[in-house]
Amino acid sequence: MELFLDTANLNEIQRWLDYGVIDGVTTNPTIMMRSGVTDIVGHTREIARIISPLPLSAEVTTNDFTEMIVEARQLASLAPNIVIKIPVINETGSPALGVIHTLAQEGIQVNATAIMSFGQSMLAAKAGAAYVSIFAGRIADEGGDAAAVIGRTAEWLDRWDLHARIIVGSVRETMNVQDAAEAGAHIITVPPALLEKLIDHRYSRDTVRGFNEDARAVRLAAQAPQSPR
Ligand code: E4P
Repeated sequence: MELFLDTANLNEIQRWLDYGVIDGVTTNPTIMMRSGVTDIVGHTREIARIISPLPLSAEVTTNDFTEMIVEARQLASLAPNIVIKIPVINETGSPALGVIHTLAQEGIQVNATAIMSFGQSMLAAKAGAAYVSIFAGRIADEGGDAAAVIGRTAEWLDRWDLHARIIVGSVRETMNVQDAAEAGAHIITVPPALLEKLIDHRYSRDTVRGFNEDARAVRLAAQAPQSPR
């Protein structure tokens, strides 16, 4: 299973790359906005450069299908490791399957995003998406069962030998990462703050503190004058 970083923050990207634990990066327009980005195209190029050859998912920013194709081609031309996020439907519910199919036929890797159901995953994969992004937290927000959507999609892709890979996004709690992994996610994309929580543990800190205190005690004992026998 691979781990992607769900952020546009360059310092965080470099930091988690240096730890050797991430296999790619995902962004979306909200993530860009929250990171204070003013030039989405320029920032996308910069992230792609930093993480190359690992994949970077960058999302189109329009509701119009013709404009999506133009934007996708422009983003994809920035660097070979850029994957284009296309929402599976637009704001009004029209399917973006034609956009996904056109781009896939041109050899542009598509990450079909904002997926909330097995049906959406299935149709996006059929249209040629290389990745299907299932939004676990948003499914749960609506009372849905994200693990079931992930599990059924994984089983179906496997049974019919389709090559789309499942990215589980919208993870909010550390348990969501474990649940997604168990449900069959190929990739989980995690915000830096959540990776921070995954590595930390109060009892690990206490344990290390205990070892260090005992090591100090051993050193002090070795330095103390030996009493004559
Ligand atoms: C990743 O591809 C998604 O865009 C992201 O994880 C969505 O997360 P959110 O539901 O917390 O906005």
